[in-house]
Parts: sequence; structure tokens; C-alpha cells
Amino acid sequence: SSLPAQIRRIVLIGFMGAGKSTVGAHLAARLGWPFEDADRFIEARAGCSIGALFRRDGEAAFRRLEVESIAALLERSPLVLATGGGALESPLTREALNRLSDTCIVFLDAPLDVLIARCLEQPGAAERPVLAEREQLEQRFTGRLPLYREAHLIVPTLELEPDALAESILEELR
Ligand code: S3P
Repeated sequence: SSLPAQIRRIVLIGFMGAGKSTVGAHLAARLGWPFEDADRFIEARAGCSIGALFRRDGEAAFRRLEVESIAALLERSPLVLATGGGALESPLTREALNRLSDTCIVFLDAPLDVLIARCLEQPGAAERPVLAEREQLEQRFTGRLPLYREAHLIVPTLELEPDALAESILEELR
């Protein structure tokens, strides 16, 4: 869809390993806007890691907290927000995002194999509850792609470094 005229928020969406948190921090630094990472916000509210929350209370409990947290964060502006890879599975979150006429939604795109490789390289790999099973991962990925592709901007992440990506996103918004 077409870009909002006046942008007060940038919301990054995409699968695990897409670089939402890293690129988000660069975007925020360039704009001088606050940056929030929905997963970190959830961890602060839950008082434990996402991995521990999944193990302790299950995925459904995590998803409820995720919907509430994103709704609370979207009250803020200006804001750059990195969401978790499953955030758009909630119709409530999709509706909340669609209602915001001053918010640009950016999909950071990469092939699944690249995403998995990036996640496995990161120190917190064992703590990513969704990373465990290849088949389940593929199902989540293909199920989510059409939701991600509704974004205002689709950005391939293969070639550029995070700060260059942030710069090219801001170019598109100008
Ligand atoms: C999830 C992705 C994670 C985190 C949780 C579930 C998913 O976020 O929200 O582990 O369902 O894809 P990142 O995309 O930031 O890794």
C-alpha cells in the first residue's frame, strides 16, 4: 500500500534473524527517535527471558503478553519499534497497526536459510524457542510471508550492512 504522508513511527516486521533489532536501533539513532524492541519490553514485563516465558507459561501466554505490549508501545510517538517475528499472527496487532495513519511498516526480507544461519550464529540461539524444529520453522515462515508482504516497504536484507539498510529505508521515506 502507499506510504503514509506524515510518519511518526516506523515498525519493523519480519522473521527471526531479519535484523529488526539491529536495523531498528540504527534507524532510531539516525532519526534521533526512541527505539523499542517488543521482545525486550515483554521480557521486562514478564521478569524473565522469552525462552523462560515459553517454557514456564507456554506460547499462548507469550502471545497474549506480546499483543498487550505492542498495543502499549504503539501509544508512543515518535518511535522506531522492532516487533517479534510472530507479532503479525495476531489479528488484534494487525488491526492496531492498520489503524495508525502515521506509521510506516517495513518488512525486512531474507530467504529462510539465511535467516536460520544468522540466528544460529548469534549467542542467544538456544534461547530462541521457535528455532528448534526445521519443519515447524518452514510452516511458520510460509504462513507469515503474506502477512509480512502487506508492509508499506519491503526491504531485501541480503546485501547491505545494518546502517546502510537504515539509510536506504530513510531515503525511501523522504
Ligand atoms: C518469535 C520470534 C522472536 C520472539 C519469540 C517468538 C517467533 O522474535 O518474539 O521467540 O514466533 O517468530 P525475533 O523475531 O525478534 O527473534
